[in-house]
Amino acid sequence: VEPDVVTDVLIVGSGPAGASAALALSTYGVPNIVVTRYASLADTPRAHITNQRTMEVLRDLGVEEEVVAKATPQRLMGDTTFCTSLAGEELGRIRSWGNDPLVQAAHELASPTRMCDMPQHLMEPVLVDAAVARGTHLRFGTVYKSFVQDDDGVTVTVEDRLRGDEYTIRAKYLIGADGGRSQVAEDAGLPMGGQMGVAGSINIVFDMDLSKYTAHRPSTLYWVLAPGATVGGIGAGLVRCVRPWNEWLIVWGYDVTAGAPDLTTEYAESIVRRLVGDDEIPVTVKSSSAWTVNEMYAETYSNGRVFCAGDATHRHPPSNGLGSNTSIQDAYNLAWKLKLVLDGTASPGLLDTYTAERAPIGRQIVTRANKSIGETAPVFEALDGLSPQTPEQLWANIAARKDDTEAAEKQRAKLREAIAFKVYEFNAHGVDLNQRYSAESSSAVVPDGTPDPGFDRDPELYHQPTSRPGAKLPHAWITSGTRTLSTLDTVGRGRFTLLTGIGGAHWLRAAGAQDLEIATAVIGPGQEYEDPYGDWARLREVADGGALLVRPDGYVAFRHATAAASQEDAERLLTGAVRRILGHG
Ligand code: FDA
Repeated sequence: VEPDVVTDVLIVGSGPAGASAALALSTYGVPNIVVTRYASLADTPRAHITNQRTMEVLRDLGVEEEVVAKATPQRLMGDTTFCTSLAGEELGRIRSWGNDPLVQAAHELASPTRMCDMPQHLMEPVLVDAAVARGTHLRFGTVYKSFVQDDDGVTVTVEDRLRGDEYTIRAKYLIGADGGRSQVAEDAGLPMGGQMGVAGSINIVFDMDLSKYTAHRPSTLYWVLAPGATVGGIGAGLVRCVRPWNEWLIVWGYDVTAGAPDLTTEYAESIVRRLVGDDEIPVTVKSSSAWTVNEMYAETYSNGRVFCAGDATHRHPPSNGLGSNTSIQDAYNLAWKLKLVLDGTASPGLLDTYTAERAPIGRQIVTRANKSIGETAPVFEALDGLSPQTPEQLWANIAARKDDTEAAEKQRAKLREAIAFKVYEFNAHGVDLNQRYSAESSSAVVPDGTPDPGFDRDPELYHQPTSRPGAKLPHAWITSGTRTLSTLDTVGRGRFTLLTGIGGAHWLRAAGAQDLEIATAVIGPGQEYEDPYGDWARLREVADGGALLVRPDGYVAFRHATAAASQEDAERLLTGAVRRILGHG
């Protein structure tokens, strides 16, 4: 039977993973179709923290400026506050999301981009609009039902919800970006570790002018310990800023074994009032929805011509803000590989590196996000709030920290330490930027014989750049005439790039001799790019005439420490590397 529609890549889902896969593929000129269940994009804020690595991806895909213009800037994200209600007592704060002066410096040194808060209902239209403008065909109200694959492609049956009928789409590859309940991942039989439904959460979106409680301690997150709350165990709730300071989202727990409560407007308003602690300010509840926290990751991200990305492969709580970020980064890792296989440049073996590179990251972030939840317990412990007791006792414990006693001094210290330890959730710069791929498992990384430098400091907290193959190209500000740009701006746009300096002429000629299109960037005095601050020379870990071959996703694939001994040598080494990367080795 002839399929009704034919394309190169069919993407199921228009969330962060699907939308960015579509954007990257269309940017690279790969025909693609997105089908998505509903008649609109995400209508609630959902994921929001957008880290520097994601901003680098969006910069390469040409939408960074639009996201910056629509997002809440980093400086308004950072005073994560612990309190008994927004109007009530403050228990302490932690400078978050790069707003601690030392971490801020680290952010500035690490990337040309800034973190921001971009709620998902604003992010998805930016990604999807740009994708459609560049060629993506988007089909709303279209549900994935099933697929069959053979040696040449995948035939997917979808349902048109408007017409109520089914039809088939034939694609060379299928991307399942259909979220935490992924039918594609299930049908592909992707092996999963972990557990679904470990906790219940309610999201309440509401309008309320809370400037008087928030503008002086601007933050994305306000953690509220609300003694006496009937739901959510110890009564901890999260008040999250959607737009400063009049649109908000509350995350409130419910007992998952008892099922979600009836989400009436009265119920939602009662939680808002409790966590805000002010009955005078008018509130308009816009929506409330229940969802479950999951703790799952796929061991393998693909089966034949079917690839999954985003929550389809990693499901975890929102702590550390990793969901949407990792989803976008998965898609970016996969898109250029599909492009090179589809245009015949690479062998399908290149696609195996997708699981090899991304599955360990998925596992790591699921573990990190869950650990962060556990690490909030000491804040409650410091107030003796974990053992069952009456709300009055908990209020008394909270009040006791103001006493002039030895016990109270100890309690104050414990509370300070507990809040400071939340740095692993709110300022984990290393978690955001230290993703390195291993040459042992990925053939798209060519070992250069150097030992793994590891990390000098805590790899979750501190970013450590390196140019060793498998790491993201280090960022340094360089210049071209009067223009200042990042080293990251010399790479990407769907191409490989060879970076070298004075003495790298053999490498440049070798790059030009490959079957693969390789852009070049020469950095040095009197060259196309200059390094006036010497930052690049300090970071590059190779000599002036050495070479870095950088993949379209900004990862170093191959490195040679020095100038090539001869033209022959340069060609032999670079050709060998390219063959390995493209799966022809
Ligand atoms: P995502 O779930 O965003 O997208 C899946 C897409 O697939 C959707 O477009 C969906 O319609 C479509 N789809 C699914 N099945 C389909 C089918 N059979 N056929 C066609 N289309 C199909 N994270 C966070 O950091 N902070 C938060 O507060 C929240 N809050 C939150 C609330 C709710 C209600 C949800 C559902 C999720 C969150 N999250 C969150 C998680 C965050 O939204 C998530 O990590 C990312 O959106 C993951 O992006 P994906 O693109 O992988 O999936």
